[in-house]
Amino acid sequence: MYFTNPKAAEVFAEYLARHEQERALTRDLPRGQFGERRDEFLLPVGADVGNFLRALAIGRKPERILELGTSYGYSTLFLADAAKACGAKLVTVDVDAAKQDYARRMLERAGLAEAVEFRCGDALDIVAADESEFGLVLLDIWKNLYLPCFEAVYPKLAEEGLIVSDNMIMPESAREAVRAYREAVRAKVDLQTVLLPLGSGIELTIKWSEGNPKL
Ligand SMILES: C[S@@+](CC[C@H](N)C(=O)[O-])C[C@H]1O[C@@H](n2cnc3c(N)ncnc32)[C@H](O)[C@@H]1O
Repeated sequence: MYFTNPKAAEVFAEYLARHEQERALTRDLPRGQFGERRDEFLLPVGADVGNFLRALAIGRKPERILELGTSYGYSTLFLADAAKACGAKLVTVDVDAAKQDYARRMLERAGLAEAVEFRCGDALDIVAADESEFGLVLLDIWKNLYLPCFEAVYPKLAEEGLIVSDNMIMPESAREAVRAYREAVRAKVDLQTVLLPLGSGIELTIKWSEGNPKL
């Protein structure tokens, strides 16, 4: 069981069923066609990463959480559950209005929409326009945007704030963008970071200036 709240559990069961159907469909799709049709699919972080995110959020108790890449709301469900539990506000961003509308409806049904602010538009513009700090960030948009999004988010990361980035190991097609991202993270002296083999591979990064001998 992933959600104790029965309405959230019901919504999550729908995500799981849809993901199973999509896996069966995409197994046989040629790679080019998968790329053309990627907006049809959930492309979720998966339940292990979802649970990990929720645990991090509940442990860290951030005032604000940022999700870059709402998609259809699978990862949003875990983050919103945590946000509600610890009184945080979740800001979730996607450029695709139809996907975000779907996510909003699912979160409403789960009884979690009040914890979420849905912002539709380009992640870089939205992060640049936001004036407050974030205590937890999920980075899960198209992989060529990881580096510019990281540079935009970095100045807005709270002290002891966390960034979780998905797809560090899989898919292979993201490897080059991921390498550039991980190098940029490691170049910042006030960040501590580690690659974890969870789901498709995540990078867990914490901003830690106080007591850091490099500073
Ligand atoms: C891998 S999916 C996110 C999956 C989601 N986090 C989950 O686990 O359910 C990536 C999302 O990034 C969004 N995206 C791509 N480019 C974007 C941009 N420039 N600004 C905001 N969102 C963007 C896509 O529309 C897509 O829904």
